[in-house]
Amino acid sequence: RTVAVVLAGGTGSRVGLGIPKQLVKIAGKPIIEHTIAVFEAAPEIDDIVVLMAPGYVDDARRIVEAAGFRKVRQVLAGGETRSDTTRLALDVIGSDDCNVLFHDAVRPLLSGRIVRECVNALWTHSAVDVAIPSADTIIEVGDDECITGIPVRSRLRRGQTPQAFRSGTIREAYRRAADDPHFAATDDCGVVLRYLPEVPIKVIDGSDENIKVTHPVDVHLVDKLFQLAAARAPGPVDEHRYTEELTGRTMVVFGG
Ligand code: CTP
Repeated sequence: RTVAVVLAGGTGSRVGLGIPKQLVKIAGKPIIEHTIAVFEAAPEIDDIVVLMAPGYVDDARRIVEAAGFRKVRQVLAGGETRSDTTRLALDVIGSDDCNVLFHDAVRPLLSGRIVRECVNALWTHSAVDVAIPSADTIIEVGDDECITGIPVRSRLRRGQTPQAFRSGTIREAYRRAADDPHFAATDDCGVVLRYLPEVPIKVIDGSDENIKVTHPVDVHLVDKLFQLAAARAPGPVDEHRYTEELTGRTMVVFGG
């Protein structure tokens, strides 16, 4: 079986809207609803588990119920850090013998193509990451804000999600991490790389549109991309005229 875990345990302090950013409405729906809908529609996904910011679990349950998502098995409270949230999901999944995809709830423009390629890659690899090339040169700086290195750009990628695993692999990586008093991680592939270095992590192509809503400008970018998607094909956005929640402007999508 293949389980999609929607990581929504954060509060979105950098967007700074006073509610967790995954609840902000874009194109008429909360961001997290768009995200869950991608997995609901993906034939490769059997079950969906949602981990929501504590205090907002009921909001997430209401969204799931109103949208009629049939693959969502559980909506639970996330942990203090993203890794704590992942760990809680792994406990819920319980099995060492399934596929699991971890995805940021705040990347609502995930494509079905990426989900399919992640699941296909799990036939040959037990850990899979999604990444895109970096248009910017990435520099490394020291504590004094001076450059200490400039890695060769052609070898750099920007990591996105989903990150996909055979559940036994990611569970074993987190079991080993539990013994490390200095454990720190921002993503789950990093946990495999560190604690199971012998496991190759396959990288598949992400997408420029698979944006992580992080800063206020991202809300506007993602909103625009939903409008363009609606103009291309009416499918993904079902309201052609809606009020943009942040600005109160009425947006009209042409051609949808
Ligand atoms: N996340 C989570 N549990 C946490 C922290 C983060 O499941 N304890 C999730 C977020 O909800 C988000 C994803 O991990 O979908 C990516 O994290 P990030 O963009 O850093 O989200 P926030 O922690 O909400 O944002 P910020 O750092 O601005 O507060």
